Amino acid sequence: MKIRPRFSFSGDFKIPGDKSITHRAVLFNGIAAGEAVVTNALLGADCLSSVACMRALGAQIEVEGDKIHVRGAQGLRAADCDCGNSGTTMRLLMGLVAGQGVDARLTGDDSLSRRPMERVAAPLRLLGADIETTEGYAPVAVRPARLCGCTVDTQVASAQVKSALILAALGADGETVVREPLLSRDHTERMLAAMGADLHADGCTVTVRRSSLRAVDVAVPADISSAAYFMALGALCGETLCRGVGINPTRTGILTVFDQMGVDYALENMRTVCGEPVADIRVRKSALRAVRLGRAVMPSLIDELPVIAVLCAYADGESVISGAEELRVKESDRIRTTAAMLTALGGDVEERPDGFIIRGKKKLRGGTVDSCADHRIAMSGAVALAASEQGGEILGAECVDISFPNFFTLLDS
Ligand code: S3P
Repeated sequence: MKIRPRFSFSGDFKIPGDKSITHRAVLFNGIAAGEAVVTNALLGADCLSSVACMRALGAQIEVEGDKIHVRGAQGLRAADCDCGNSGTTMRLLMGLVAGQGVDARLTGDDSLSRRPMERVAAPLRLLGADIETTEGYAPVAVRPARLCGCTVDTQVASAQVKSALILAALGADGETVVREPLLSRDHTERMLAAMGADLHADGCTVTVRRSSLRAVDVAVPADISSAAYFMALGALCGETLCRGVGINPTRTGILTVFDQMGVDYALENMRTVCGEPVADIRVRKSALRAVRLGRAVMPSLIDELPVIAVLCAYADGESVISGAEELRVKESDRIRTTAAMLTALGGDVEERPDGFIIRGKKKLRGGTVDSCADHRIAMSGAVALAASEQGGEILGAECVDISFPNFFTLLDS
């Protein structure tokens, strides 16, 4: 994909639905009583993996435009589930299937098969789950077992790990308490509470008891992780407005970064939709200052770090990002691939075991970016190139389909 420089960039963008919320709406309604409609659903490849897996397990699901109709299975059936590239599908299913007491074999593509699964399997075993990984990785086998509630302290602040435990706890005897070191995104807690689960969330602690779910319609907000690319383009080259974006406080670390970098932005038309806060986000071209970001803020901006790194490369001064070692186990090793992307475009980046040091240049030259089959590297590279002197190209750009199928069309518009 060739990207030409945009010396002035402005527009009003309809960003696709939130990936995390679409996955959850499909997975949870897939085991609920009744029928639900998910509107403004993200139909990227990752969420379609969740749809395919829930169909294999017995839920009836129809996709129509950007709507997904889900009729939950009353008792899942044993299945082989291909989770594709989607870590959220595989990890949440591990807990969901364990809680529902059926056999399942979970597989994924090459990238997913290199991502750690014991971080989910090991705590699920504390509840009594019978789960076998392949030396820590996929394929993962889940077999029926009686689950018993207990207190679990997770080792990483990961919404995927937390959600898997909560889903398993829905089918466990007694009370399960899940505690995480830092608060990760809480869409699971919000949606399950709306579906009638016996669940109480208090800061980093969630208490759950055995529950059955009733279906709920979900209107999915635009994904702030996808809006982030157009927000960054506004800050670098003009003015952008992204409408109806989810601003759940567990997801808005990028706005904290904007505050520190001196980005001129505004939240307009704030409202609540299906239990999630939403706003239109306007961003205007700004002189950017360097930032220092540490571990505490990481869960709230983890997927945005590649595009935040692009902003740092265009900022004045040296930015230091630390406590971000989770980036090493995403769809690619995003510390390595982000550093390689910026270096290829003329940026000055030092890779650290847990982050980067980025010496801002105010302007990048341009060049060729290898996406390394990682959607967020492809889109961050496109932002960096659109703001660069010469532009350039992205190799392997088609991976944007994972989370943002019309990304390049929207960029061109
Ligand atoms: C997600 C949680 C995050 C995030 C991923 C989606 C989710 O992963 O990076 O893109 O929907 O729960 P971790 O839970 O591993 O931090």
